[in-house]
Amino acid sequence: MGKILVPGGAGYIGSHTVAELLNGGFEVVVADNLETGHKQAVHPGAKLYIGDIRDRAFLNGIFETESIDAVIHFAAYSLVGESMTDPLKYYDNNVGGTRNLLEAMIAYGVTKIVFSSSASVYGEPESIPIYETDPVHPTNTYGATKLTMEQMLSWTRIAYGVSYISMRYFNACGAHPDGCIGEDHRPETHLIPLILQAANGVRPEIQIFGSDYDTKDGTCIRDYIHVCDLAAAHELALRHLLNGGESEIINLGNGVGFSVLEIIKAAEDVLGRTIPSVSANRRAGDPARLVASGEKAGMLLNWSPEYTDIREIIQTAWRWHSTHPEGFKVT
Ligand code: UFG
Repeated sequence: MGKILVPGGAGYIGSHTVAELLNGGFEVVVADNLETGHKQAVHPGAKLYIGDIRDRAFLNGIFETESIDAVIHFAAYSLVGESMTDPLKYYDNNVGGTRNLLEAMIAYGVTKIVFSSSASVYGEPESIPIYETDPVHPTNTYGATKLTMEQMLSWTRIAYGVSYISMRYFNACGAHPDGCIGEDHRPETHLIPLILQAANGVRPEIQIFGSDYDTKDGTCIRDYIHVCDLAAAHELALRHLLNGGESEIINLGNGVGFSVLEIIKAAEDVLGRTIPSVSANRRAGDPARLVASGEKAGMLLNWSPEYTDIREIIQTAWRWHSTHPEGFKVT
């Protein structure tokens, strides 16, 4: 089938993709510095190299030891707020790390890469749903680094023939249905895990960031996509490249928007209890609405999400959080 290098394979989306690739018959080599990833998240069927993608000697060692056919690249910092207070940290790791990875790939003749991009490249969209051809105007450093990484891939394709699929994720959520891996960010900043932590007492309440947006109930609207659906899309993108397919940029979302209040209500339905919430100020840089058009992913990769019911998505997240209230810390 092929041997795939997965930088960032110990992270949230990376670890679910590693499990999917192994299930699909690929051999998997994970490279992760474990700064935000977790060793326990890496499937035992994968080989783990602990190190940093900014370290060229570390990457060379992997490419010399393993016969890598393609790369799926998740290794990046991803906290929007932190990216605004420490932008150069984001340029160093996200942009610098990707440059280093591409240089190593080119040196070792590896010419296929699936890349984690983000809906944050769009900034505040002009219209909904968002198409891949819509203008890109990131409103934070994190999104700007993802856009720069995409542009780096585009120029690298022209110069060196490295083909790529860049995946612009909307709001990744949920957990593996087997309950063994899930979301564990430190600090946690994402809506669904925070709601579930408020539900099981890890936090006192969920804060609703802004109730005065120009939306149906005044709260922000997002497109929530299950992490296993993202993982499946990565495998399809990988096969597309391995079969000689063209380079592409693809949105990954469910194509349906839910407000913050609707997500809280859905979580209350799933859990059968009231979840304490309070109104808070808007969070700087939050667009009012982000909803994907999934047309291109459907046409090009023959991908469609399996998890289309937000309650089922939250159910998988709840299974993880209720059995791992401290995340990957042994409970
Ligand atoms: N929210 C709250 N309270 C919280 C946390 C979040 O009301 O405690 C709201 C946010 O304001 C937002 C929605 O819930 O409206 C979702 O917020 P998340 O932090 O879960 O997700 P984002 O939409 O901010 O971020 C996601 C990805 C980022 C990516 C961004 C693109 O997680 O990596 O989309 O805008 F950059």
